Amino acid sequence: MKFHDEIMRRRTFAIISHPDAGKTTLTEKFLLFGGAIQVAGAVKSNKIKKSATSDFMEIERQRGISVATSVMTFEYQNILINLLDTPGHKDFAEDTYRTLTAVDSVILVVDSVNGVEEQTRRLMEVCRMRDTPVIVFINKLDRDGKNRFDLLEEIEKELKIQLHPMTWPINSGKDFKGVYNIHDKSLRLFAPNTKADEEDVIAITDINDPILDEKLGDRDAAILREDVELVDGVNGPLNVDDYLKGKVSPVFFGSAINNFGVKELLDTFITIAPPPQGRDTTARRVDAEESKLSGFVFKIHANLDPKHRDRIAFFRVCSGKFERNKYFHHVRLNKKLRFSNPYSFMARDKSVIEDAYAGDVVGLFDTGNFKIGDTLTEGEEFYFTGIPSFSPEIFKEVVNKDPLKTKQLERGLLQLTDEGVAQLFTQFGGTKKIIGCVGELQFEVIQYRLLHEYGASVEFRALPFYKACWITSKDPKKLDDFTKFKQANVAEDKDGALVYLAQSEWFLNTEITNNPDIEFHFSSEIH
Ligand code: G4P
Repeated sequence: MKFHDEIMRRRTFAIISHPDAGKTTLTEKFLLFGGAIQVAGAVKSNKIKKSATSDFMEIERQRGISVATSVMTFEYQNILINLLDTPGHKDFAEDTYRTLTAVDSVILVVDSVNGVEEQTRRLMEVCRMRDTPVIVFINKLDRDGKNRFDLLEEIEKELKIQLHPMTWPINSGKDFKGVYNIHDKSLRLFAPNTKADEEDVIAITDINDPILDEKLGDRDAAILREDVELVDGVNGPLNVDDYLKGKVSPVFFGSAINNFGVKELLDTFITIAPPPQGRDTTARRVDAEESKLSGFVFKIHANLDPKHRDRIAFFRVCSGKFERNKYFHHVRLNKKLRFSNPYSFMARDKSVIEDAYAGDVVGLFDTGNFKIGDTLTEGEEFYFTGIPSFSPEIFKEVVNKDPLKTKQLERGLLQLTDEGVAQLFTQFGGTKKIIGCVGELQFEVIQYRLLHEYGASVEFRALPFYKACWITSKDPKKLDDFTKFKQANVAEDKDGALVYLAQSEWFLNTEITNNPDIEFHFSSEIH
């Protein structure tokens, strides 16, 4: 296949939602359509068996949340789809935000009963910042949900996006009868647990077709006609350009668990969702069709399979062709690296690949060369921009419970914090190790993983800090004085950079005012 065609047939996206809205269920239905799994329930049952497709940590099973990002690649109608899974839990939001830098579009799942929830809001903010094209799937129509007009208004207002309904539901809950496809003017009657290949679409001439009365009853047909007239009258056909610019979001209604409305969603997705897009770097904008390879690491995960001690860097190809055993330039380390076992994530299995194109996510075995945001090129010097860095809000001191395992603990702390879920600091002039996270749950995950993956037992002691600011100064003497004077509040990050740990906003503002020669940085991007 030609280089251009390889790129054009790829779609790289993420499904995002507040926990429990139905992201896992929708993922599973997509995988069924793509033939990547054979039976419904496979994703869920894998979850329990631990060798999961979309969620792979045992703690995920215990907690019922999806902890780590994984990638699922499948084909549907000759389109190669890379679905990047994201943790829904707010304590792992940083992980999700970074994953959103590696996709070209998203599908947002909203629960029709709960409407817009906290995480939906936050995730959409990130999408809006990057003008990511968004398709909305309103799920759980088989339950008595909110009035659909109210719900659409709520989503538009709360998420600050303009919606464009592509389908329209007929009732909800036990009276749910199906969806009318506004654009191809067809009716899909609701049947629980629709099979992936079932074609139960009723073609009608237009909204006035008497078949509607026959199938839905006079009352529901009349309501549908009124609704559709209103919605279609306001919107007209979808302007795909506006969708691609992130200005308008097409909306689908359905029930993921019943595989209802999912095919319409997927069919539209592969038609309108953008192929791999260009990306900004510190030097210039890189186009997906450039012949030379470039890409960046957006996630690192150690020990994907607890039986093997491997660490994997997730690398998004942004341009050119990634080839096995070819030397690439690691910009930060100024080093040539080649990969003999890069793998892709087809369905449930990892398989070694020979090459990959823009839009693909390649798993690279790593022996400590990679950090989040690292860039590979064929020699050019730049970094991809816009990858959010992590700003911790909760700080705890690491207490080693098993001195015999000190080495393992140190290695574990370094590796786990390289993955980007937490930051590691060392007390200035001392040895005390401090971990900074955005959520409490991350401490539990770190504690669990240190024990299970490194054999190191730790406890955490809460510290009274609320923010970490990187400090620099043009006057080394002033920086030195400040550091000595504020020793109890100063730490070094993993790269030896100085960090001021503030107890409260008031303390921080006071220090900023009293020390005009010191610069306090609230870095929000890795590059
Ligand atoms: P998440 O990944 O976004 O967290 O959500 P997930 O798919 O795990 O779905 C959350 C719950 O919502 C699950 O129920 C799932 O079965 C249910 N669900 C998903 N889609 C629909 C739908 O269209 N209609 C209805 N009524 N429910 C839906 P659970 O009780 O938490 O799990 P399970 O016992 O069903 O596995």
